[in-house]
Amino acid sequence: MLGHAALLALAALLPFSIAQVNETFESGWDQTAWPTYAPDCSQGGKVTLDSSTAYAGKNSIRVDGAGGYCGHIFFGTTKIPSGDIYVRAYIKASKAFTDSHVTFITMPDSAQGAKKHLRIGGQSKILMYNRESDDATLPDLSPQGIAASTPLPANSWKCFEYHIGTDGTIETWLNGSVIAGLTVKPGVSNANAAQWQRSSSKPKITAIYFGWESYGGDANTFWYDNISVSSTRVGC
Ligand SMILES: *[C@@H]1O[C@H](CO)[C@@H](O)[C@H](O)[C@H]1NC(C)=O
Ligand SMILES: *[C@@H]1O[C@H](CO)[C@@H](O)[C@H](O)[C@H]1NC(C)=O
Ligand SMILES: *[C@@H]1O[C@H](CO)[C@@H](O)[C@H](O)[C@H]1NC(C)=O
Repeated sequence: MLGHAALLALAALLPFSIAQVNETFESGWDQTAWPTYAPDCSQGGKVTLDSSTAYAGKNSIRVDGAGGYCGHIFFGTTKIPSGDIYVRAYIKASKAFTDSHVTFITMPDSAQGAKKHLRIGGQSKILMYNRESDDATLPDLSPQGIAASTPLPANSWKCFEYHIGTDGTIETWLNGSVIAGLTVKPGVSNANAAQWQRSSSKPKITAIYFGWESYGGDANTFWYDNISVSSTRVGC
């Protein structure tokens, strides 16, 4: 039987093991909880509630991202845990990534300085991270680095998960499988993380925004459903 002190300790831990955010958009798009985000400029991108396609249920959020930086648009939340952060979202892209650099999740990162973001997106046709302040990519975009990541197939719902640790850890899963090239973790070596690890910056993100931003001319439509933000891994 648990002692009184142990029970108190458990009760103190509980709030942190419960997801901060679970959102299926089945009751609509609450624009106060999920505001749009488009720093600097916004031309041509749009966010809508889509009742014609969903991973489950009937609704998802649709982002029509236009080409060029100002064609960007995101929606997201500032309700994130203070320690380790695990994000799980079902995502669907209408087009596969090209060689150009694009972003579909952007996170203001105070460790990099004001108005700088930790970004998840695509380049060289694969999933990758980009650190805005020094433009480092994870993985390195060498042939070996590219092979250590994976494309995001078009027109298919995928369970996308990632973990950002307070110690600088980054882990990433697509449909439950670890993406080796998108892993930076004490005790796990990643030969394709040289560029990422040239800085010891540990992400300290203040919000998570889902959408589209492109630095070449690529446009795309993304759908997002059943988003969970938690201090522990929720899984698919
Ligand atoms: C979110 O979902 C998870 C997994 O089903 C559950 O454990 C958690 O309590 C939920 N959190 C909230 C805030 O509803
Ligand atoms: C959303 O995700 C939660 C947690 O993984 C799961 O329990 C729930 O069944 C999902 N809901 C829908 C409608 O897919
Ligand atoms: C990936 O996961 C999604 C959502 O669970 C599922 O609909 C899809 O069939 C899976 N695809 C593959 C290739 O595993």
